[in-house]
Amino acid sequence: MTSETQNLELHTQNFSFHWCLDPQINFLNHGSYGACPRPVLEQQQAYRTRLEQEPVRFLGLELEALLDAARQELAAFMGANSDQLVFVPNATTGVNTVLRSLSFRPGDELLTTNHEYNASCNALKFTAAQTGATVVIAEIPFPLESIEQITEAVLSRVSERTKLVLLDHITSQTALIFPIRQLIRQLTAQGIEVLIDGAHAPGMVPLNLQELGVAYYTGNCHKWLCAPKGAAFLYVRQDKQDGIRPLVISHGANSPRTDRSRFHLEFDWVGTADPTPYLCVPTAIQCLNAMLPGGWPALISRNRAMTLSVRQLLCQQLQVALPCPDELIGSMATIPLPAGSATAASWQTALFERFMIEIPVIPWRNERLIRISVQLYNNLADYERLVEALKILHAEEQRF
Ligand SMILES: Cc1ncc(COP(=O)(O)O)c(C=O)c1O
Repeated sequence: MTSETQNLELHTQNFSFHWCLDPQINFLNHGSYGACPRPVLEQQQAYRTRLEQEPVRFLGLELEALLDAARQELAAFMGANSDQLVFVPNATTGVNTVLRSLSFRPGDELLTTNHEYNASCNALKFTAAQTGATVVIAEIPFPLESIEQITEAVLSRVSERTKLVLLDHITSQTALIFPIRQLIRQLTAQGIEVLIDGAHAPGMVPLNLQELGVAYYTGNCHKWLCAPKGAAFLYVRQDKQDGIRPLVISHGANSPRTDRSRFHLEFDWVGTADPTPYLCVPTAIQCLNAMLPGGWPALISRNRAMTLSVRQLLCQQLQVALPCPDELIGSMATIPLPAGSATAASWQTALFERFMIEIPVIPWRNERLIRISVQLYNNLADYERLVEALKILHAEEQRF
C-alpha cells in the first residue's frame, strides 16, 4: 500500500466512537479545549470513586505515589526527568506561576510577540505593571513566507535590557509552530531567560524538553494528549527550581521532609482539589497510543497530513493563497477568509447555527481567519461539509 493510499484510508476512517462528542455537531475545534476519550473518562471516574470511598486514605496516604507514577510517565513522554516536572491545572497557571515567581526591576524588558495568547500576554502585562518592567512586542506578520521572519522579528527586538522572552510554542490564533529550538538557543546564549507557553504542543508535535534546554516550559495535557480537563504541567530546569514557587503557598513551604524536593513538596499539594485529571494523564497517553497500529508517531503524522490536505482544499476552494509554509503546521492550521463585510463572530455563529459546525473564526487586524483542528475523530467528510458551508456564506456575502 502506498503512503498516499494509507493516508486516504486513515482520513476517511471513523474513529469518533472513542469520544463522547455529539454526533449532531461537526466538531472541528479540538484546539480550544481538547476532547477526552471514553476510556480516559472511565478511568477518571474509577479514581473519583476510589477517592470518595476513603478520602483521608486516598488524599493523605495514596496520592503521593500515584502522582509520582503519573508524573514519571508524562516526563518520559515529554523527554524530561520527572524531577523537573510538576502538575498544574492549565497552561495559564503555568505561565502565571513563572511570571509571578521571577523578580524584575524598572527598565527591564519582557519580550513577547503579537501572536501571543491573550491570557498569557495579560499575565505578562500584569507582571510588568507590578514591577515597573516594560512589555516589548515583536511584530510577526501573518500570512508569512518563511521561518526566518519569525526568528528575525523576535531577535531584532532583543536589547541589553531584555530579561525574559515569553513565546508560544504553537500559536493560538494563527496556529503556527514557532521555531523555538533556534530561538531558545540564541536567547539562552545571550543570557536571556525563556518561558515557553506550549499549551498546544504535547501530543501535537514530538517533544524533548531536556534537549530544548529551556528554563521554563508549560504545556496542557487536556488538549492534544486528550487527558481530562484540568491537567497540565510546568517544566522547570533544575538550576531554576529554587526560584519558582506555586501561586498558592501551602504545607510544602515549611515541610520538614528531606526525602522529596521542595519543588515537588510545594506544587504537589496546593490545597484540597480533585487530582484525578493528573492521575489520568498516563491513561490518556496509552489510550491514544493504542488507537493506531503505529502509536503516537502514526497519530501525529496522520493528523498533520490531514491538516495539510484540508488546508490545501480550503485555500483552493476559497481562492486564497496558503498563508505560511507547510513546515510551520501541525494538526491545526489558520486560513484567511476571503474579504467580506460580515464580522468573524457572525460567521462563527452562522457556521454553528445554520450548519452545526463548531469551528473558530477569529478577527485578526482587518481580516477574518478560520482555524481548523484535526484530531482522530475528524475525517475528510467533516471538512468537505465545512467547505460547502463556507462557499454558501461567501456567496451570500457577495450578493449583498
Ligand atoms: C497558546 C496558548 N496558551 C495558553 C492557552 C491557555 O490554556 P488554558 O486555558 O488551558 O490555560 C491556550 C488555550 O488555547 C493557548 O492556545
